Amino acid sequence: MRQSLVVGNWKMNGSTASIQALLEGLKQGMGKIQRAAVGVCPPFVYLQQVSTLLAGSQISWGAQNVSHEAPGAFTGEVAANMLGDFKCKYVIVGHSERRSLYGESDELVAKKCAVVQAAGMIPILCVGELLQEREAGQTETVVKRQLDAVIRMNGVDSLANAVIAYEPVWAIGTGKSATSQQAQDVHAFIRQQIAQHSANVAQKVQILYGGSVKGSNAEELFAMSDIDGGLIGGAALKADEFLTICQAAK
Ligand code: PGA
Repeated sequence: MRQSLVVGNWKMNGSTASIQALLEGLKQGMGKIQRAAVGVCPPFVYLQQVSTLLAGSQISWGAQNVSHEAPGAFTGEVAANMLGDFKCKYVIVGHSERRSLYGESDELVAKKCAVVQAAGMIPILCVGELLQEREAGQTETVVKRQLDAVIRMNGVDSLANAVIAYEPVWAIGTGKSATSQQAQDVHAFIRQQIAQHSANVAQKVQILYGGSVKGSNAEELFAMSDIDGGLIGGAALKADEFLTICQAAK
């Protein structure tokens, strides 16, 4: 049995005050969360605050991005060991906003997965197709290409220590989630692709769904056999809504 995982991706949102309030709300409600492991990914600058507020709680934390380079002359970048210094458990890698707005290639994303693991953390590798790719029947081709880049560079065993997030780009921030069946189909496809290299890794790897998950649709999505939890954007910014989603985990 894979444990469910629900991770909040706060994106570029929050302030010292709003984060304090959100985390107090989450900590108070965690007693009700029986099944899911829970994590939050704030912007880099709030990692110190988040790690202090969450130390000793059931909630883990992580970052939304990382440099693929070792420390050095890379103005504005953050190295993996720095994230380890703040006891991050997870690092989101290859989010579609990074791929589309900042031009991150499949190869760069694979390198980032490797540096995250080398620093002792777990990458949350995001994959997913654009609307025009889905409409052109290319969903599986795109997801396979994104996944294969990581398997080719880092080996399939690297996925034993990773989380995968399937996030159809057309569902992110649009309010229009994939149906539970659409998501399940792609999750099953991802697991099957990994199984071609290693049945053991395919069975173990947690595959999260992301894209307009809300309190009202989480239960139906999480009920699907290959959906092991969620990567939550907008709905992770409200404590009650995020807790409702966490409670829906199987
Ligand atoms: P959303 O974002 O829940 O706001 O659609 C999900 C994500 O981008 O990870």
